[in-house]
Amino acid sequence: MNSLITREYTVNNCHKSFTFDSRASLLRVLRDNGYTEVHNGCETGDCGACVIILNGKPVNSCMVIAASEAGGEIITVKALGDVHNPHPIQRAFAESGAVQCGFCTPGQIMSTYALLLKNPEPDDDEIKKALDGNLCRCTGYKKIIEAVHLAAQLMRRVSDET
Ligand code: FES
Ligand code: FES
Repeated sequence: MNSLITREYTVNNCHKSFTFDSRASLLRVLRDNGYTEVHNGCETGDCGACVIILNGKPVNSCMVIAASEAGGEIITVKALGDVHNPHPIQRAFAESGAVQCGFCTPGQIMSTYALLLKNPEPDDDEIKKALDGNLCRCTGYKKIIEAVHLAAQLMRRVSDET
């Protein structure tokens, strides 16, 4: 039998308390609480549209039982930047033509973010491996790989300047 539970999380550096069905996925809980930037593509772990950073690692949020990650630190694409103040990764995706319908983009950007934090200068193979779980039906992937290279350059430039 399902039951409602309340658990606490940190989402985009804000403390949050959510009440949800004990069997709900983190994707469901986030979307039900307004974090609709986390996209729902398949709910079976196959498309990567729902990738978030959970406790420092990229995960498919549809495959995570929210209750099992109580107290977790969550970052969604909204924490990185927005149209008025884009993160270098968001700029790179826009400038490289790696965004078409945009449905896959939040997940692509979060997987890229996780990659570039641990590997600031990835090669093509490393990019393909890191974004392996992020499907895109529009771009053919070439522009996404170009975008990740550009994002890496922009992020290195920012870190050289600071
Ligand atoms: S919605 Fe989670 S992997 Fe597709
Ligand atoms: S831009 Fe449309 S699914 Fe990737």
